[in-house]
Amino acid sequence: MKRTLSLLLLALSCLSAQPLPPAVIPAPVRMEVRDGSVSLTASSAITYSAAEANETALQCAEELNRATGFGLEPSKGKNGTIHFQLNERPDKNLGAEGYTLESGNGRIVIAANAPAGLFYGMQTLLQLLPPEVRSDTVVRRDWSVPAVRITDAPRFGWRGMMLDVSRHFFSVDDVKRYIDEMARYKYNTFHWHLTDDHGWRIEIKSLPRLTEVGAWRVERFGEFGRRQGPKPGEPATVGGFYTQEQVRDIVAYAQKRHVTIVPEIDMPGHSMAAIAAYPELSVTKDTTIRVNPGTKFAEWFGNGTFKMYIDNTLNPSDERVYDFIDKVMTELVPLFPGPYIHAGGDECYKGYWKQDPGCRALMKKLNIRHVEDLQGYFMGRVEKILKSKGKKMIGWDEIMEGGVSPSATVMSWRGIWTGVEAAAAGHDVVMAPASHVYIDYNQGDQTVDPPVYASLRMKKAYSFEPVPDGTDPARILGGQANLWAENVPHLRAAQYLAYPRAWALSEVFWSPKGSKDWYGFTQRLERHFLRADAAGVTASRAVFDPVVRTIAAGERLRIVMESEFPALDLHYTIDDTMPDERSPRYTDSFLLPEGPVTVRVRAYRDGRPVGNLVTLKPDELRNRAGK
Ligand code: ACM
Repeated sequence: MKRTLSLLLLALSCLSAQPLPPAVIPAPVRMEVRDGSVSLTASSAITYSAAEANETALQCAEELNRATGFGLEPSKGKNGTIHFQLNERPDKNLGAEGYTLESGNGRIVIAANAPAGLFYGMQTLLQLLPPEVRSDTVVRRDWSVPAVRITDAPRFGWRGMMLDVSRHFFSVDDVKRYIDEMARYKYNTFHWHLTDDHGWRIEIKSLPRLTEVGAWRVERFGEFGRRQGPKPGEPATVGGFYTQEQVRDIVAYAQKRHVTIVPEIDMPGHSMAAIAAYPELSVTKDTTIRVNPGTKFAEWFGNGTFKMYIDNTLNPSDERVYDFIDKVMTELVPLFPGPYIHAGGDECYKGYWKQDPGCRALMKKLNIRHVEDLQGYFMGRVEKILKSKGKKMIGWDEIMEGGVSPSATVMSWRGIWTGVEAAAAGHDVVMAPASHVYIDYNQGDQTVDPPVYASLRMKKAYSFEPVPDGTDPARILGGQANLWAENVPHLRAAQYLAYPRAWALSEVFWSPKGSKDWYGFTQRLERHFLRADAAGVTASRAVFDPVVRTIAAGERLRIVMESEFPALDLHYTIDDTMPDERSPRYTDSFLLPEGPVTVRVRAYRDGRPVGNLVTLKPDELRNRAGK
């Protein structure tokens, strides 16, 4: 019924040039839809109330002109068809990022206490326009905005997305595009994972080998983690880095979009690229270590413990290591105006430290019994360096191991529990549990989407609650979606993984607690796919794919199917034919007949296929039941 209604609305709005009902993501705090609409034309005017609102008005004109061809030029004033108003007396409910948007009676007024709020109001306005507003070329059509009254402000101050540019390098333009898309969904923090075992990506002039050597690896193809290591003398040709000039350019680009960049130098583990450049930074001082092209160099034991076959850790007992970090930070800190530097701290293997006489002597001197506690000492030293340069340290949740001062901010990734522990210990916390926000994980069926070691379906990402019960909400700065790039060789692949899950998470980080509504979200989501299409942004449609489980039933298997997306029909076959809209429709779980049976299933809407065909062969079906 609802579907028929929405189709009818869509048809009606096309016929009468009425605007579509609003589909804003993240959902605003309050939105009242009224009768009528406001039409934008080439003779519409854009005005702004004060010089500080000029930038947003210009951005709005640029956005609109690209797709409409109107050639609008904003001017100072108060009567524009679109008017940007900085509140003379701050509205307490809006804070620095909130806004009000009122459209009707021929005009649209966006008001805020600060430019960031105007910017978010503008993003909402763009989402009230048809999807084609994201087009890079001029589209001829009616441009109208529904009459609405919106009051909106974010739930959290830290709404982050991370991009790992070490495992694969992303160009300056790619990074800008990533930031631009974030800002459209009201993210305000870009965590830039700049260094790791697979490449060092930022120019440090006093340490030239970091980029001469550390930014480049040998060319390899195929599954990351199963590749061959470098051969002796083989040239390292794949990689890249950002010059400081380019970093300044990206920082300025982000600032215009009210995005703060948090750069990460991952230490003391995950440092193989730095060690390839300067082997003396490690305890092993192994000069054969190269920037890693994606070999298997660690063994994971399934309980969170692991062993590294190649030393990728900085030596905590060598003062020259702290001189190195000081030099890096001396050049890094002035490039980034934000308050935080991310110092990593994750997955540090202590096996080489344990055997090292220098580390053992340091442990004795510090009266430390466990080698793990050396990491606490190391992170404390890094925090001191950062504090001396006026920055706050944030690190992955392992920084709590071995003790770190409560002034350090913790990015909780191993689970929700690490965030609970960190908050209880008095740390500020950014919630980024892999279980809900790791958007490098597989999002569809593992037999369809490229397999990744773990899975995160869209609906689960949407269900994330960043403030666990019993935790002081004042300690939770917000949350973040993380995109690791082992399996992400280019921007389209990054977008495919990021979207739509990062849209779902934008609602988790922005919209009020308790306001989530999966059905409503999926209805809005459809329109955002169209927006992405118009913008040339890749977005996965895996949310339409059937979710298939099997349960052992004696010698046989019971098949259970679900659809994350509401109101789809799942048509399947078990007779080795391709399913179509007349194949059996799934209504309830069923026992699979004995024999070498393959299940093929696809989702349909109004008799048309949506999403991918899922094909599960007998071995896979047994596997899923743990047989
Ligand atoms: C992490 O995923 N190693 C922070």
